[in-house]
Amino acid sequence: MSLHIEAKKGEIAETVLVPGDPLRAKFIAENFLSDVVCYNRVRNMFGFTGTYKGQKISVQGTGMGIPSTSIYVTELVREYGVKTLIRVGTCGGLRADIKLGQTILAQSASTDSSANKLKFGGMDFAPTANFKLLSNAYQKAGELSIPVMVGSVFSTDTFYGDEANRYQIWSQYGLLGVEMESSILYTIAAGEGAKALSLLTVSDNLVTGEIASSEAREKKIEDMAKIALESVS
Ligand code: HPA
Repeated sequence: MSLHIEAKKGEIAETVLVPGDPLRAKFIAENFLSDVVCYNRVRNMFGFTGTYKGQKISVQGTGMGIPSTSIYVTELVREYGVKTLIRVGTCGGLRADIKLGQTILAQSASTDSSANKLKFGGMDFAPTANFKLLSNAYQKAGELSIPVMVGSVFSTDTFYGDEANRYQIWSQYGLLGVEMESSILYTIAAGEGAKALSLLTVSDNLVTGEIASSEAREKKIEDMAKIALESVS
């Protein structure tokens, strides 16, 4: 048992999918895993363990944003010995030509969060995905005929900002999307000797203002779950 997760030791797999939304964790567990057990209901931040092609896999909601994600990810690695974490989330597209529903494999994550600087005495750590996970996911997406883009994303602490074009500098530097979790996931995983990768579906586009319907998002979550589960099995 940890502060925010009520599972007993051994109830969580070494490989965990970490969507932000706990109901997405439930959806993935119910639709992709067999022999599912719910191990966490604290704060309704559901966590499930089941099997995929005979392998033990867990799915744990993390909530939105860097502080919430850091709590769940830290407890998973420190208290439950988790070794591999794959985020399955959404992001806003940072270029007009990035379509809604596009799947992005986040190679690295820049951030405006002070969490990174706090950990490194004011200096900047460069949070990056684990190469093997990234390369496996890229290959499996190809085999599944799911088109993906690989590139950098931005993890912000503020969903709603005040300035227009606040992400212009980041698109100029080639970033593909903005979300709120990947930089801390990559940073914690690196510090704890775990592997991490973020798979993201574009749910809105900050340049064109388009927003995906919830049905369209659901379909894409299935694509990400397939890539994630196939790349670790
Ligand atoms: N901004 C920040 N986080 C997000 C967005 C966004 O537009 N879309 C999905 N997560």
